Amino acid sequence: MKLSIDSTVTLNNGVKMPLLGLGLFRTPSGEVARQAVRCAIEYGYRMLDTARVYCNERSVGRGIADSGISRDKIFVTTKLWQTDWDNPRKGLLDSLERLGLDYVDLFLLHWPFKGYEKAYLELEKLQQEGLCRAIGVSNFRIHHLQALEKAGAKTVPQVNQMEIHPVNTEEELCTWCRQRNILMEAYSPLGGEGRLLVGDPRLIGICDYYKVKASQAILRWDIQRGIAVIPKSVRPERILLNSQLYDFDLSPQDLEIISDMNSNERRNYDPDKIDSRPKELCPKLIEEQ
Ligand SMILES: NC(=O)c1ccc[n+]([C@@H]2O[C@H](COP(=O)([O-])OP(=O)(O)OC[C@H]3O[C@@H](n4cnc5c(N)ncnc54)[C@H](OP(=O)(O)O)[C@@H]3O)[C@@H](O)[C@H]2O)c1
Repeated sequence: MKLSIDSTVTLNNGVKMPLLGLGLFRTPSGEVARQAVRCAIEYGYRMLDTARVYCNERSVGRGIADSGISRDKIFVTTKLWQTDWDNPRKGLLDSLERLGLDYVDLFLLHWPFKGYEKAYLELEKLQQEGLCRAIGVSNFRIHHLQALEKAGAKTVPQVNQMEIHPVNTEEELCTWCRQRNILMEAYSPLGGEGRLLVGDPRLIGICDYYKVKASQAILRWDIQRGIAVIPKSVRPERILLNSQLYDFDLSPQDLEIISDMNSNERRNYDPDKIDSRPKELCPKLIEEQ
């Protein structure tokens, strides 16, 4: 089927999730976040990816309200941070209050912090209550996912959000999740702030051939393989560019050329070491006005 900005993927519980969304990590709260959200919705984005720890949920909620879009037309993801591990229900209710919403579309465990199995069992209850339409995880490796089942989880996570880009393709994890109908969602799809892949010379040939920017080639590479993407930008021209992915089609050979750039170069923390991250490197939770 031809991909368009309205393309969705059906999750393992029947919920439809857009393939393209706006990432909001490091988007400052206040006018910047509010305007980025408004702008993205105006350009046709129908998914927003925030988190408790991004400290911008209130501004994201305001941007959604400004846009005038009806609630059921927008897919909102937020994530539970470690500070709410013992009470995920309170964590979600607080996020909903900040967002100004009655439910989120997707609620994720942000990292496999110690005790994640128990927290996931709570997410299952929140989903049954209707406070989140889909549940999932982020930064989970295969063994973390297997541990959920061993802990008695009845719900296969709908989504696993992971750092995925051309130099960190996570092929084994993607295949494992695909076989179990867990949707993979690529975070830091362009390589992440300060380590962008948009200047990588290995993409020049593809960009010249299709007459696209490297960012477009990378994002198209994801969505053509059924991986959802959430590029972040606060600049209207980039928010627009990152959504212009639908008038070219990468050939199987070109998909492979991009996949072959892989060197398992994960730039974010190692999920297996997240509990030993030094305190001074942990993000601070700031309350927005
Ligand atoms: N679950 C997790 O643990 C986790 C971790 C990291 C990220 N995420 C999610 O994934 C989203 C995306 O990841 P990310 O923000 O780390 O990285 P990213 O989307 O790969 O890259 C964002 C950076 O690229 C710049 N940029 C955006 N579009 C561009 C373009 N077309 N050309 C050149 N530069 C461009 C942005 O700058 P400007 O804003 O100045 O345009 C920003 O510095 C996050 O915002 C967040 O929602 C989740």
